[in-house]
Amino acid sequence: MLKSLSLLSTFAVSGLAGTVLWDGRFNEFTSSADLNNWSWANQVGPYQYYIHGAGPVTSYVNLSPDFKNPADTSSQQGAKITIDSTAKWNSDMWRTELIPQTNAAINSGQVYYHFSVKRSNTNPPSPNHEHQVNFFESHFTELKYGWINGDPTGNPNYNLQWMVGGQSHWQVNWDADVWHNVAYGIDFSAGSVTFYHSTGANPLVQTAGPISASTSSNGADWHLGVLRLPRSGYADGGPEDWYFSGVYVESGSLTTSVTGP
Ligand SMILES: *[C@@H]1O[C@H](CO)[C@@H](O)[C@H](O)[C@H]1NC(C)=O
Repeated sequence: MLKSLSLLSTFAVSGLAGTVLWDGRFNEFTSSADLNNWSWANQVGPYQYYIHGAGPVTSYVNLSPDFKNPADTSSQQGAKITIDSTAKWNSDMWRTELIPQTNAAINSGQVYYHFSVKRSNTNPPSPNHEHQVNFFESHFTELKYGWINGDPTGNPNYNLQWMVGGQSHWQVNWDADVWHNVAYGIDFSAGSVTFYHSTGANPLVQTAGPISASTSSNGADWHLGVLRLPRSGYADGGPEDWYFSGVYVESGSLTTSVTGP
C-alpha cells in the first residue's frame, strides 16, 4: 500500500513538469568555440551564431561553470556574453546574440522560455544606454536595461524591466551578483504573455500578466543575448559582460524549480 502510494506521488510530481522542446543549456559544449560548428550551410547544434562582431567567438561568448546560477544543477555551465565597440553587426548597435536552432514547435501553443540572468561589478552594463535583452524580433516580450530611447528625463536608468510591446510591466533595481530567474509564458494561440520570476534558488512565481500581446515568431527569432542602442553624446565606454544560464523552452506545465527539468 505504501509502495503504491509513493509510486502515485512520483507520477503526480513528474506530471507537473513540462516537456523540453529545445535545450540551450550548453551541456554538450566543450567551449564557446563549438558555436563555430554552426553556419548557414551546416545548421548543427542548438544555436545559430551569426549576430556578433568581427572578432573571434571568445571575444563575445565564453562558457564556464562559474557563469551559471549555482542553484541550477541541470546546467553544467553558463555563458558570459560580451558586447563592446567591436561587437557591431549590421548596424552601429553593439550586439552579441544566439538564436535557437531547432525545428521544434517553440513558436506555437503554450510555451515557456526559461533563462537566468546576472551582472557583476566587472564590466557592468551602462545605465545610460538602452539594452534589449532576450527579445523576440517583434518585441512582444523582452527585458530591457538602461535609459530607454526617447525618455526625456535623460537620467541613467538602473532598472531591469520586463516589457511587452515597449510597455514596462515589472522592474527591479538591478543589483550586481544576484541571479534573476525568468520564464516568459507565451500563449501563441490566445495572444498573451505572462512573466514568471524569482531570484537565487527560489522557485519561479507568476509576477506579471497575462497581458495580451502580438505573439508571433518564425521559430528562429528569439535572441538570447544583448543589443545595445547607440546614444549620441555618450562615450562608448568599456565592454559589458552579461551572464546567462538555464536556457530552455518547454511546453505543457511550467517547471518552477530553478534546478530545471
Ligand atoms: C562541434 O564539433 C565538434 C567536432 O565535430 C564536436 O566534437 C562537438 O561535439 C560539436 N559541438 C556541439 C555543441 O555540437
